[in-house]
Amino acid sequence: MIVDVNLGSRSYAIVVESGALGSLGARLRALGVGARTALVSDGAVMRLYGKTVAAGLEAAGFAVTPVEVPEGEAAKRLDVAELCWDALLAAGLDRSSTVLALGGGAVGDLAGFVAATYMRGTNFVQLPTTVLAQVDASIGGKTAIDHPRAKNLIGAFHQPRLVLCDPATTLTLSRREFSSGLAEIVKHGIVLDAEYFAEVERDAAALLGRDLPVLERVIGGSCRLKASVVERDEHEAELRAVLNYGHTVGHALEAATGYTRFVHGEAVALGIAAEARLARRLGLASEETVARQERLLEAVGLPVRADAVDVEAVLAAIARDKKARDGRVPFVLAPRIGAFRLVYDVSADDIRAVLGALRAGRG
Ligand SMILES: NC(=O)c1ccc[n+]([C@@H]2O[C@H](COP(=O)([O-])OP(=O)(O)OC[C@H]3O[C@@H](n4cnc5c(N)ncnc54)[C@H](O)[C@@H]3O)[C@@H](O)[C@H]2O)c1
Ligand SMILES: [Zn+2]
Repeated sequence: MIVDVNLGSRSYAIVVESGALGSLGARLRALGVGARTALVSDGAVMRLYGKTVAAGLEAAGFAVTPVEVPEGEAAKRLDVAELCWDALLAAGLDRSSTVLALGGGAVGDLAGFVAATYMRGTNFVQLPTTVLAQVDASIGGKTAIDHPRAKNLIGAFHQPRLVLCDPATTLTLSRREFSSGLAEIVKHGIVLDAEYFAEVERDAAALLGRDLPVLERVIGGSCRLKASVVERDEHEAELRAVLNYGHTVGHALEAATGYTRFVHGEAVALGIAAEARLARRLGLASEETVARQERLLEAVGLPVRADAVDVEAVLAAIARDKKARDGRVPFVLAPRIGAFRLVYDVSADDIRAVLGALRAGRG
């Protein structure tokens, strides 16, 4: 499946296909970019897929400089970006060259930031290898490194020239990392497309079993939904906020537990459960709408209840949300499957009540 992202002169294609990595050389040639490339990846992903990617590029006539960065969030640091700039310079990359990100969202965010800043911007190609990166992080041009005081604080919008999603790469993910990415897929269905949500409900078991044709279809569908939001709001003015569904509470849960207890998708699943209950509590959604969201999250291996949640710590983290405007944190709520509404002025007591209900066996 090919999903076009229409952004005028910054338009690009998202290719979703098992084995897509094998077509990289030809697709890059078709873009007419220069002969030099830098392949940014972490050690684990480089060992799994680096050779295939580099060989394909070289066979198509490209020079490849591998740049290995730390795994996970440790890659999104200024000193790592600096090492990348040094490597690009040493290999003689210029503005016609291409930086390729092979890996999860962390590698993509860092490599995108490097591509956005090196010589004021070089070509950038995303080769996402986690579910989260395929359906979310690789699309939309948000690049970032972390600041000691907050994640993703330093960055730029820099759209890729091409996104190549190979669902077969997700077969080597741990069960936990795999399910984590499915939270974004469920999120897309809930707030953007009831038909897609029903499709994921129907295919949940095959999806969790990593059936490749189903993975390809579901990942492709999710890319299409994210792309449509990016097309309508490239620089996150308003509509793109819809993608924060489950994330106001989810991010706060991650922050309040020091980013160690939950992987991102687990925190988002709990965030969705809490925000679904918030919509119910405010009289916007039915009990069945809440139950369907929780059933699907559980069916794809994600939690909807958690013991020992420190409600006050999570509430404090919500108040520090960087999306807050004049002290008010907007919540994206789902009045029904396939729809959303931005709600301001949610009281601390309502948030407390739904966080309390996350504790196992209650609510
Ligand atoms: N730019 C955006 O719009 C955007 C959106 C969402 C998230 N993000 C960012 O994405 C990051 C999270 O991304 P993530 O969830 O992909 O995690 P990640 O990038 O931290 O990768 C997680 C781990 O998976 C391993 N891995 C990657 N692909 C693998 C594969 N195919 N097989 C085996 N192991 C593999 C990596 O080595 C790493 O250890 C965060 O930094 C977040 O801020 C960015
Ligand atoms: Zn997310």
